Amino acid sequence: MKLVVTGCAGFIGSAFVRTTLELNAASRIVNLDKLTYAGNLENLASVAQDPRYRFVQGDIADAAVVEALLAEEKPDAIVHFAAESHVDRSIHAPTPVFETNLRGTFTLLEAARAAKLARFVHVSTDEVYGSIDAPHEADESYPLKASSPYSASKAGSDLLALSYFTTYKLPVLVTRASNNYGPFQFPEKLIPLMISNALDGRDLPIYGDGQQVRDWLYVDDHCAGIRAVLNQGQAGEVYNIGGNCSLPNLEVVRRILKATGQPDSLMKTVTDRPGHDRRYALTSEKLEKETGWSPQMDFDRGLALTVDWYRDNREWVERVRSGEYRRFYDVNYAQR
Ligand code: NAD
Ligand code: TYD
Repeated sequence: MKLVVTGCAGFIGSAFVRTTLELNAASRIVNLDKLTYAGNLENLASVAQDPRYRFVQGDIADAAVVEALLAEEKPDAIVHFAAESHVDRSIHAPTPVFETNLRGTFTLLEAARAAKLARFVHVSTDEVYGSIDAPHEADESYPLKASSPYSASKAGSDLLALSYFTTYKLPVLVTRASNNYGPFQFPEKLIPLMISNALDGRDLPIYGDGQQVRDWLYVDDHCAGIRAVLNQGQAGEVYNIGGNCSLPNLEVVRRILKATGQPDSLMKTVTDRPGHDRRYALTSEKLEKETGWSPQMDFDRGLALTVDWYRDNREWVERVRSGEYRRFYDVNYAQR
């Protein structure tokens, strides 16, 4: 399969490229990425010389770039990861969130429609279901109730993508995954931030009471789920992809402290995130039944692998933490 994949210089997209090229000798991947603060070509160093891989720097909201690329490459499918992906940033600066997540997705859908593309996988999130009281879990028919500019933009782009199936019969599939973790994740999200701070002996900022619950999915399991949807999913359908691992934040952070050999005293309670969703929970039964996919990684093993990766890649962390990240860290945490 020849794929145009957007946002591969980020965390999940880069894992998708590395694992797909490794598992499928016949695949070819063209990576369209703008290289925002979250885009880092170092994440793709292992495939940079692979003749089956091509990088194109460009904005998914730029119709001329997207149309030219589809005309040139004539891909079998688009897998669309590119997004502004962080809730806290979306609260501080919503404009790029809407430019990329909504206008960018719209631009890709329009180009895909014009090119009569055979498949379009839109990568989304369980955050579109909003906060869910225990013991309930969202299946794919659960109502959308987004709380942050980020989750609202993802919910809007999910609906837009599905409307292209209903209206234009563009073969769109939507995936909604839970919180990912693993190597190469930008240290603004909970797990990589806490690991990198713990390794440096810095404070670990806990929003509010730390009892918010997330379901944790190892990034390679997410990528396998996306490939299952790409290859076996039904057009026009939504597929949840979860890790079967619901934990309160405090428990996750305690396990990180244990894995890094640091004391619990590094945890510091800070002012809560505005509009903070209390609990995300989803079921991936549909994907499991239709494709046989299931998450393979045990959380403690995945966390140990991730801690080892951050320990072994301190220079990667230092490089991404310089410049723009410093400014974000100051704004986000100084105000808490
Ligand atoms: P990330 O922030 O690590 O990477 C995003 C990538 O998109 C970067 O390489 C960036 O340069 C690129 N990008 C941003 N704006 C662009 C634009 N206008 N044009 C082209 N490229 C652009 O994100 P991630 O964590 O890898 O998430 C990837 C996707 O998965 C997103 O759509 C996100 O909503 C979704 N998702 C993420 C998680 C998670 O836990 N991280 C969970 C579920 C779903
Ligand atoms: P995050 O990784 O930003 O993912 P999301 O908000 O998209 O689920 O945050 C995961 C949880 O961790 C969320 O409940 C917010 C919390 N959190 C903290 O307590 N401290 C932090 O510094 C960060 C970044 C997140």
